[in-house]
Amino acid sequence: MSRRRQIYEGKAKILYEGPEPGTIIQYFKDDATAFNNQKKGTINGKGVLNNRISEHIFTLLGQIGVPTHFIRRLNMREQLVRQVEIVPIEVIVRNVAAGTLSKRLGIEEGTPLPRTILEYCYKDDALGDPMISDEHIACFGWASQEEMHEISDMAIRVNDFLSGLFAGIGIRLVDFKLEFGRVWENDFSRIILADEISPDGCRLWDMKSNEKLDKDRFRRDLGGEVEAYQEVARRLGLMPEDGGGPDTVLNLDEARKARAKD
Ligand code: CDP
Repeated sequence: MSRRRQIYEGKAKILYEGPEPGTIIQYFKDDATAFNNQKKGTINGKGVLNNRISEHIFTLLGQIGVPTHFIRRLNMREQLVRQVEIVPIEVIVRNVAAGTLSKRLGIEEGTPLPRTILEYCYKDDALGDPMISDEHIACFGWASQEEMHEISDMAIRVNDFLSGLFAGIGIRLVDFKLEFGRVWENDFSRIILADEISPDGCRLWDMKSNEKLDKDRFRRDLGGEVEAYQEVARRLGLMPEDGGGPDTVLNLDEARKARAKD
């Protein structure tokens, strides 16, 4: 193992210094946490699946013109991304009532929302990522008003695209979390999509059975976490139809590349 510098260790990922300036390596762990770190566990193979699922989604978003930090996948658990100055805000996009929205407002889980809701949380584990408003963001200078326009426009665009992508494979995109970062070019900065998009940060329900195919399986002790993540990968076309463990998600990809070269 080369001795590269670790920049940060989060709940589900480790960030290392990348090979070129301005790049970072994201390593996807199998660790899972919920309820602001109060519940901890391991989902064997989750990191491999999330690395591949996130690569797939970020690549598709890049193809429709959403700027992202993703550069390329390096191996089973790592991807190369652009270094960004992370905006300390988690953007939650909701299409259907669930989780904390249901709890806070007493709306039954599964109730479709008449319009998409964007919520913002301040990224601070010690404070439990409290919900904030535009007023707090402006007051404390976490992002400019122009940046918040870019962020909310991008969040809606990502939601429209992903809702369609998942609907096409029989999955309802209930809600999800996005993170954004700033990149500097000359004296100007712009906002790009950062972090990851995977079943760790989305609620994904099977459209027919309402079965949960996301981290709620872990949060709510439902079991079958890795099978659910694999099912998402399978429907996205990232797994062979005849099954196989999380590793096959990459073997299939490699096999396709080898075939394309022949
Ligand atoms: O997930 P939880 O019920 O704690 O909170 P929520 O506000 O209902 O979460 C909405 C969506 O954002 C879910 O898909 C979560 O998985 C995701 N989320 C996340 O990925 N990370 C957070 N720190 C908070 C929410």
